[in-house]
Amino acid sequence: MIAVFLGPPGSGKGTQAEMIADLYDYTHLSTGRLLREMKADNKNIAEVIDAGGLIPDDMLLDILKSHLEKNNLFNNLILDGTPRTVYQYKKLAPWLRKKGSPIRYVIYLHVDEETAIQRISFRRHHKKTGKIYNLKTSSPPPDVDYNDLIARDDQTPEAIKKRFVIYREKTLPLVEYLRKRNKLIEIDGTKTIETIHHRILEAIKHNNA
Ligand code: AP5
Ligand code: MG
Repeated sequence: MIAVFLGPPGSGKGTQAEMIADLYDYTHLSTGRLLREMKADNKNIAEVIDAGGLIPDDMLLDILKSHLEKNNLFNNLILDGTPRTVYQYKKLAPWLRKKGSPIRYVIYLHVDEETAIQRISFRRHHKKTGKIYNLKTSSPPPDVDYNDLIARDDQTPEAIKKRFVIYREKTLPLVEYLRKRNKLIEIDGTKTIETIHHRILEAIKHNNA
């Protein structure tokens, strides 16, 4: 089973993917995180993602496919942030099907830009665990040392702006493409983290019926 989380920057893809993965013991693979881990050894990737751009489609697909193959991640996988263009979907979906693990759900979290930008500005990641927190809406537990919380390099106002421009240009056409084919589970991403989580679980149950 493969589930995809799709949505604009700050829509809560990582937050919700992590909750579902924890609940069912699935693998949560964020391509953004995978690429950030490659930054130290690859200047080109660092430059593109820190500026809020997209890694070229074929390069991203090569990185993702070899990561999935090397770690044999084809079962019970949550893909957070890929596919995010029509091209990526058209290449990745048949490849995964051939591997015997088709994309089963595409969960689309929609939020307005203003809400998403607010969330991104207050987001912090825990250095050691990678867990996502928010200084306003999702505080870390008391045992977390605030010195271990870091902001991402693509959290600058310029990079955030560019990520939204690219989202509208490259990802919204994928949303439309999947919507027309009835392949989207659309969830209102402006609700609370818990409400969204329950709505995702309900939607998955409904889709299994
Ligand atoms: P990626 O890391 O995927 O970034 P993104 O898509 O911009 O999304 P974010 O991670 O910023 O937001 P999110 O939706 O995960 O929200 P989160 O849960 O953190 O990609 C980074 C970069 O990598 C891209 O720009 C690109 O360069 C490259 N890349 C990645 N995939 C690629 C691909 N397929 N092709 C090409 N390039 C690719 O939540 C945000 C904050 O809000 C947190 O603080 C959280 O605590 C809080 N929050 C979450 N939900 C709620 C809620 N319901 N209410 C209140 N607060 C909430
Ligand atoms: Mg994320």
